[in-house]
Amino acid sequence: MARNQPVYVCGSCGGESLKWQGQCPHCSAWNTLTRVMGVRADPRGGPQPAAPAVAVGLPAEPPAEVRTSLGMAELDRVFGGGLSAGSVSLLGGEPGIGKSTLLLQVAAAVGTDAPVLYASGEESTRQTAQRAQRLSLAAPQLRLVSDNSLESIIARSDEQRAALLVIDSIQTMQTSHVESSPGSPQQLRECTAALVRFAKQGGTSVIIVGHVTKDGAIAGPKLLEHLVDTVLYFDADAGSRYRMLRATKNRFGPVNELGFFAMTGAGLREVKNPSAIFLSRNPQPVPGSLVMVARDGGRPLLIEVQALTDATRFSAPRRVAQGVDANRLAMLLAVMSRHSRLSLAEHDVYVNLVGGLAIAETATDLPLALAIASSLRGVALDGKLVAFGELGLTGEVRPVPHGEERLKELHKQGYARAIVPQQNAPRQGVAGLEIQAVATLAEALEAAFRS
Ligand code: TYD
Ligand code: MG
Repeated sequence: MARNQPVYVCGSCGGESLKWQGQCPHCSAWNTLTRVMGVRADPRGGPQPAAPAVAVGLPAEPPAEVRTSLGMAELDRVFGGGLSAGSVSLLGGEPGIGKSTLLLQVAAAVGTDAPVLYASGEESTRQTAQRAQRLSLAAPQLRLVSDNSLESIIARSDEQRAALLVIDSIQTMQTSHVESSPGSPQQLRECTAALVRFAKQGGTSVIIVGHVTKDGAIAGPKLLEHLVDTVLYFDADAGSRYRMLRATKNRFGPVNELGFFAMTGAGLREVKNPSAIFLSRNPQPVPGSLVMVARDGGRPLLIEVQALTDATRFSAPRRVAQGVDANRLAMLLAVMSRHSRLSLAEHDVYVNLVGGLAIAETATDLPLALAIASSLRGVALDGKLVAFGELGLTGEVRPVPHGEERLKELHKQGYARAIVPQQNAPRQGVAGLEIQAVATLAEALEAAFRS
């Protein structure tokens, strides 16, 4: 594709088409294609000398990869073990979630021993400096700049020989190579491509902020994901002070890694024991509640599963699922009415995972079924009980991956009893933990409601 041949880029998914169409062929969104000059063909612009070919062999001493700590273990974990030199990361999240706060803290942590430039197109240097002061951040090598011109920001970063450049936010940046206004798909792409070039040539790590709305209505980060090395999303349960940072793409570490933080009066603090976030901590056990061990972001997490059943007033009973797949819930209810004596045909069923995390794994099946049965019977389950396991269509309880790790976690968090799939029960047991291995839903119900 020649550089000056136009392509059409979807503002929703970033997919490219050679001709204009009303509907994006990649994501089927309507009226999202905009014309962009062929940026992808030669992102460096103009003819370039051919890059030298490099032989792949094992050097005697492989060069040690330079990783810089971001100041918090939870952050280093999500970045795949710290910040890689010359990497470009995109931090997406809704406005007000805490992206600027997080990155100012990161900039200060890195800026204690290496030059860092924090470039804001949204706030004046005075505002940013005041925020740093309020957070008691002092870093001798951190510089702030308030600017919208990408060229002058890059020049300043070069001058400072910055190890880290923070761009807050990409929607406010403008490059003189493109005529459209800041935030347009052309500007977003050109600015990001320029930052990638800069990072790869000089070894400066770049972290770019990108605002997104819940429904992804604003053209932004989606468009840029394929240009950068790492994509992180910052998210929160509505109204909660807890924040979750997830890596959805990472060329330098595992994806889906999750980090947990709490927004406090003094900025973001890492949460070292995230299991505590997802429990409602009812002082007394109540019907319809059970703790499970899910596995998300590469770690086991204790999450409270809640269910509410109520005699229906509708011709078709309502089924509402928060945090779990609605189809999975429908399947579970069918298995329950077929393979236990619990009839839910006349009941509305609501299920919820406390803390706002959505869990896609099937280990939620068994705890959900037990919580639903507990609500239906109006009988509270043992407060020291935890369960996990998958349910099959024939009412069998199937094993889930990482059973032993889950058992260790629930034991560590002070629970004394676990109902688990037979194949997940370790032969030698776990000291101090009563493990009830079950093969069917009927056995699990019996174990859970034994008096
Ligand atoms: P901010 O980092 O500006 O969000 P973003 O850059 O994603 O738009 O965070 C703004 C919110 O965080 C604001 O509502 C105030 C709150 N906040 C705290 O609760 N404690 C703090 O120490 C700071 C700096 C902000
Ligand atoms: Mg901000």
